[in-house]
Amino acid sequence: MTRPILRTKLCDMLGIEYPILSAGMGPTLLGERTGAPVELVVAVSEAGGLGVLGGSGFTVEELRDAIREIKKQTDKPYGVDLLLPKKIDFGGGMGSKQVDSMPLSAVLKKLPKPYLDWVDKIKKELGLPDVEVMVRMNSTTMRPQESVKVCIEEKVPLFCAGLGDPGFMIPEAHANGMKVLGITGNAKNARRMAQSGLDLLVAQGHEGGGHTGRIGTMALLPAAMDAAAPVPLLAAGGIGDGRGVAAALAMGCIGVWVGTRFLATDEGGALPVNKQRIISSTDEDTRVSTAYTGKTLRASYNKFHDLWAESGLAPLPFPTQVMISSALLASFIEAHKDDYVGGLAGQVSGIIHSIKPARQVLEDMVAETVDILARRLPASVTWK
Ligand SMILES: Cc1cc2nc3c(=O)[nH]c(=O)nc-3n(C[C@H](O)[C@H](O)[C@H](O)COP(=O)(O)O)c2cc1C
Repeated sequence: MTRPILRTKLCDMLGIEYPILSAGMGPTLLGERTGAPVELVVAVSEAGGLGVLGGSGFTVEELRDAIREIKKQTDKPYGVDLLLPKKIDFGGGMGSKQVDSMPLSAVLKKLPKPYLDWVDKIKKELGLPDVEVMVRMNSTTMRPQESVKVCIEEKVPLFCAGLGDPGFMIPEAHANGMKVLGITGNAKNARRMAQSGLDLLVAQGHEGGGHTGRIGTMALLPAAMDAAAPVPLLAAGGIGDGRGVAAALAMGCIGVWVGTRFLATDEGGALPVNKQRIISSTDEDTRVSTAYTGKTLRASYNKFHDLWAESGLAPLPFPTQVMISSALLASFIEAHKDDYVGGLAGQVSGIIHSIKPARQVLEDMVAETVDILARRLPASVTWK
């Protein structure tokens, strides 16, 4: 069978066949596996797109191992996504100490009392058990400088900064033949990030899974494109099939960055229960909450969102809030309180009805995009 052709400038920039990237997706919980593991990266890159490793939950050493494993399994281009926090501070500055891990209970003691009182109150009210979780102090998020160094040493073809401004590492990345991508949720940030000299910018709309801004994709794309020019734009947030890809290309984007649809694949790293939740969701079944990381984040709706909203507490800065959410989520899971647990996912969950191999998702998306662009557009247009 002949392969459809769908090329944009992005294909030339990254050396790929199709302008579709699977998004960098990290873990939802402390210690949970990543949403975008090696298997997903390899499957997407081998199928002609570009797979991006969700590196935010790995230790620095695991990150290096994962990159080397990708290189072993494919010679196609791939990316690595990290979260670069502005500052790590659990009250005692523990993020800077060179310990590999600490019990969550010890970290929690450093946090403000009203938050701990709230955790205790919820545990009492719901009869939740104490569960000890080890906090990785050597994760890529806790050690961003070392992690960036690993990516540069390994000459990762595409470095993606899921959070924060990667401007500081661009000259060294370029000197090593790498491209650098940033992510924005509004036009102001798009302008600022474009000025830092990055190669590509993703604009992610409010409907996207994971950290998300306030602007819907349809309004965000043209605004971010104008603000970022001449840095080319990729679209994200709500793209689940060829209709979304075609719309993004029609708006002038040179490619797409797709999260939730690739999470719900055989190779996607979400827990089976979270994949099932995505395929049984309607378009109304996700919510934005600051409960998980302290930043606005979209996940499958669950009662933890309501508990946090009713707490009256202000979110702690990322990643400190993760300690609070992890303390409760670990207990919810242990107590089988499934109503209080849901994975990160976008509104596009409403059009995802089955778990498929990632290659098939990509091939279907390409075929549908080509079909729409070549034959199915509802308006017939021409110049007189
Ligand atoms: C489970 C999950 C984990 C995510 N983790 C990250 C992450 O670690 N870094 C990042 O840059 N974005 C992360 N995101 C956001 C995605 O990269 C992407 O921008 C988003 O999923 C796009 O919207 P969509 O889900 O509608 O496709 C995550 C998204 C999901 C669904």
